[in-house]
Amino acid sequence: MTTPRFISMEGIARRYPAPGGGRTTIFEDLWLPVQRGEFVCVIGHSGCGKTTVLNILAGLDSPSEGTVIVDGQAISGPSLDRAVIFQGHALLPWRSVLGNVTFAVRSRWPDKPREWVEAQARRFIALVGLAGAERKRPAELSGGMKQRVGIARALSIEPKILLMDEPFSALDALTRGTLQDEVRRICLDTGQTTFMITHDVDEAMYLADRIVLMTNGPGACIAEIVENPLPRERDRTDLHRHPHYYTLRNHLLDFLVTRSRTFRDSPPPGYDRRHPPVVRPGAAPQPVPVPETGDTLPLAQFANRRHP
Ligand SMILES: Nc1ncnc2c1ncn2[C@@H]1O[C@H](COP(=O)(O)OP(=O)(O)O)[C@@H](O)[C@H]1O
Ligand SMILES: [Mg+2]
Repeated sequence: MTTPRFISMEGIARRYPAPGGGRTTIFEDLWLPVQRGEFVCVIGHSGCGKTTVLNILAGLDSPSEGTVIVDGQAISGPSLDRAVIFQGHALLPWRSVLGNVTFAVRSRWPDKPREWVEAQARRFIALVGLAGAERKRPAELSGGMKQRVGIARALSIEPKILLMDEPFSALDALTRGTLQDEVRRICLDTGQTTFMITHDVDEAMYLADRIVLMTNGPGACIAEIVENPLPRERDRTDLHRHPHYYTLRNHLLDFLVTRSRTFRDSPPPGYDRRHPPVVRPGAAPQPVPVPETGDTLPLAQFANRRHP
C-alpha cells in the first residue's frame, strides 16, 4: 500500500507578460509529491522560480496552469495551515517578541482564552531559545534572534506545512548552523512536513530527506528528486565521515555547476516531467535477478541500470 500524498504539485506553470508582447515562462509542468512528515529542500540557481513555487504553495500567488493539492484540497489562497518563514523576518516592529507570536496564535485560535494563547506563544518562544526575551521589541534583537521569533511564530500555529524561503541565508555561519540544528530537531520531534528553499548544498544535505533539483529558467523544470542517503538521525560534526557524503555532495554540486544549465535542452532519455527521476547517490545497484530456469536475461534489463 502506498502512503497518500500529503502535498501534490500537479503540472504547475507560472508565466508573466513579457516586455514587447508574448509571455515568459518561468517554469512549467512541475510535478512533485510530498509525503506527510517529510523535509523537502529545493535547490536551484537564482531566478529559476523557487520563491514563486513557495508563494504558490503558501497561496500568495497562483499558478498560470496546474494545481497544488494539500491534504486532499486544492490551494485557493493563504491559510493558517501553511506557515511561512521569510528570509527577512517580517516581524511587527511595534510588538514585542511575545506580542508577535501571540498575534499569530490568536489568529489561529480566536476563541481560546487569553491565558491559553499566551501559554502557547511562550512555549514556542522557549522552544527556539528565547525565554527571557519575551518583552523585547524587534529593534532590540540580533538577526538570529529575529529569525528565531519568525520560527516560533510559524510553529506556534501548529501548521500542517512549514514553508521556508532561504530563511538562514542572511545570517552569519555560526548562527546559521545553530538555527539549522534547532529547526531540524523541532521538525524531527514534531513530524513537521517542511518545504524549504535554499541554494546552499550543505544546508540541503543536513536538513532534507529529499532534495529537489530545479533547472535554470526560463522554462525551468524539476530535473531530479534526490533521496538523501545520510541517516535520518544525523550529526553535523561527523556527516562528512558517512561513506555517501561526498557522492551526494558531488552529485548536487555537479548539478548546480553544469547540469542545471544543460538539462532542459538535453534531458536524459526517457525523462518524464510528470515523474522526475528519483536518485539515491551512492546506493548499491539493484541486485540482478537470476533466472530460475537458467535462461539468459534479455539485455534490455541491464540497459538502464545505474551504477554508483
Ligand atoms: N511580477 C513579476 N513579473 C515578471 N517577472 C517576475 C515577477 N516576479 C518574478 N518574476 C521573475 O520570475 C523569475 C523567478 O523569480 P523567483 O521565483 O523569485 O526566483 P528564485 O527564488 O529562484 O530566485 C525571475 O526571473 C523573476 O524576475
Ligand atoms: Mg528566491
